[in-house]
Amino acid sequence: MNEMNEEDKAVLLDHDYDGIQELDHPLPRWWVMSFWGGIIFAIIYFSYYVVGSGPSLQYEYGLDLKHLKEVKKEYLKNLSQFNSDTYHSYSQSPEMLKVGESNFNKHCVACHRDKAAGDIGPNLTDEYWLYAEGTPETIFPFILTGNPSGGMPAWAEMLKEDELYAITAYLMSIQGIEQENPKAPQGERFERIK
Ligand code: HEC
Repeated sequence: MNEMNEEDKAVLLDHDYDGIQELDHPLPRWWVMSFWGGIIFAIIYFSYYVVGSGPSLQYEYGLDLKHLKEVKKEYLKNLSQFNSDTYHSYSQSPEMLKVGESNFNKHCVACHRDKAAGDIGPNLTDEYWLYAEGTPETIFPFILTGNPSGGMPAWAEMLKEDELYAITAYLMSIQGIEQENPKAPQGERFERIK
């Protein structure tokens, strides 16, 4: 058997199992503290959240949801205010026009065809308009709300603000281009703006 120092001898327990003996060291302080700390925390947590008046998960979820709705409402309100400065910075930027074109090709061509020549949806490059009036100020808000009952989706929540401005700028940049086999004019004629 190994030599045992005085300290170990003092905490040596009586029992002996086939030569195996046990020392009775106190548990480390940090361990005891976290043990009791855990119990105290559980008691406080349980009495506040389960027995007491603490807010439930459903309640807090409801609050978050309400907050989200307000933020969304505010965002949509701001978005619906057409910002001509933003628009002009987009319409003068070749990169943003590219962004607009690629977004148009991704989200709009299925109905409006390549270069917006018209298919299910109207030709968006001629001078005839059903809802918009050929200006960015009227095209942008119409894209936001669309006309779902007429087959045009609302895009306000499906695309980001910069994508919506970029698409509008792209559409304005292709007004009056030569189209192969365009869809017949629909709506009223509006003089093209320069
Ligand atoms: C699912 C088919 C569909 C998709 C996708 C679609 N549109 Fe349309 N769009 C239509 C239809 C149909 C109309 C005409 C609605 C009506 O007559 O009520 C329309 C109308 C419009 C108008 C108004 C035209 C006018 O004469 O006033 C604009 C602008 C427009 N779409 C832009 C877009 C843009 C931009 C996208 C992509 C972000 C897009 N659309 C995606 C079907 C679609």
